[in-house]
Amino acid sequence: MTTTADIVLRNGTLVYPDGVREGSLAIKDGKIFAIGDDAAMPPAHETLDATGMHILPGAIDAHVHFREPGYTHKEDWQTGTAAAAMGGVTTVFEMPNVSPPTAGKVELAQKHALATAKAHVDYGLYGLLGEENLANLEDLVAGGVIGFKCFMGNTFGNLPAPSTGAMLEGFEIVARHGKRISLHAETASIMARRQKHLQAAGRNDPLAHLAARPAVVAIEAVSRASILAEWTGARIHVLHISSAEELKPLREAKARGVDVTGETCPQYLLLGAEDYGRLGGRIRVNPPVREARNQGPIWDALKDGTIDMIATDHAPHVPEEKLREAIWDCDCGFPGVETQMSLMLTEVNVGRMSISDYVRWTSYNPARAWGLFPKKGILRAGADADIVLVDLRRSSMICDADLQSRAKITPWNGRAVRGVPVHTLVRGRFVMRDRKLIDDTKGWGQSVHAIQEMPPAKPRHVDQTTAAIVRPPLAAQ
Ligand code: DOR
Ligand code: ZN
Repeated sequence: MTTTADIVLRNGTLVYPDGVREGSLAIKDGKIFAIGDDAAMPPAHETLDATGMHILPGAIDAHVHFREPGYTHKEDWQTGTAAAAMGGVTTVFEMPNVSPPTAGKVELAQKHALATAKAHVDYGLYGLLGEENLANLEDLVAGGVIGFKCFMGNTFGNLPAPSTGAMLEGFEIVARHGKRISLHAETASIMARRQKHLQAAGRNDPLAHLAARPAVVAIEAVSRASILAEWTGARIHVLHISSAEELKPLREAKARGVDVTGETCPQYLLLGAEDYGRLGGRIRVNPPVREARNQGPIWDALKDGTIDMIATDHAPHVPEEKLREAIWDCDCGFPGVETQMSLMLTEVNVGRMSISDYVRWTSYNPARAWGLFPKKGILRAGADADIVLVDLRRSSMICDADLQSRAKITPWNGRAVRGVPVHTLVRGRFVMRDRKLIDDTKGWGQSVHAIQEMPPAKPRHVDQTTAAIVRPPLAAQ
């Protein structure tokens, strides 16, 4: 008896991390069932003509802020994941700087309940690694986190940056579990002093934000975190790489064998200091968009593998919070999960990267870094049918008003793009079809921690950890 597939996507261009091929793809029970020539496809309940379209594994955005609980006037789990679905993003990893922060098992359980009820796409939840919650890290692992987030620079939500001592203890604990710790790698004390001096000098203009956070804050933080990761054997991820200079400590750490991955975002590839005058508070983000001379080295670092992936740092704030008089009063961050794919496919169209590069940086590499590969991150029989069909020839314009996000303000407003996600499927189900959100997929998203398989943990210097030294020596027991 022949199997009947649920759907066959017919005659598209299938995109892999190392090349493309023409073909068709069959889906059954939420998984990719077969890939190959159209003639080899099983019968199906439904077919979709993908002629002229590219078929990609859905993007995995390792860096989004969805604001629920606590700040739902900016975003919630439904609007944030709707934005993801419209943007071709099938899995998001969501950050813990909500209110209350995701710092213990109760808060984590609450967030799982919200997400599972509302999400259109799959998700992972970050637990906080902070000064005050080290005793909760094991509970957070048990409660189902994808990894941890450590804010070395203070950010929205006013979570104080942990001391180096607390970071070391936290890294020791997490190293035993093999989970990855994602770092907001900017050193808080440097920035706080500089901001105070700038304010005292009467600087309130947009570029004062950049002046408060020179690249040395990232160089120092990446270096310090890499030392702690090397010592403890913890896995780390450097979020939102913004400067040419921080690539040096990142490359050095990789060369020393530290398990470190790196991420950049479209704003650091495509915007520059010259955009502050035009954009004002819209462009304010941490780390800051820097001088345009940084873009080339960041692109090069993606190409040579120093930077592993592109995420968005989707950080929605509503217009009145973004457009205040003094730059210091404008909230930091802007939505991005919805616009990343079109922005980057535009770069594919102008020949700055290949579509395989795109898939490697937005799906394959994130899946591997967080132990989701090969269940996600690749078009392969047996993998989850997380798929986006894109039309590389279709032109569009990014507009504030069109965003799904509750934060209808983006620095990309008015930007022409070419290359648009047209359909998004999560585990075989359309969550976006013909550029329309499928409303009743609210609640379809699942937490991916359950399918995460990190490589075995490799903790180091275990005899010198805080846990080890406070145990009485054997003879004294
Ligand atoms: O600009 C930012 N906004 N950077 C971050 O790291 C976090 C964020 C937020 O949560 O608004
Ligand atoms: Zn962030």
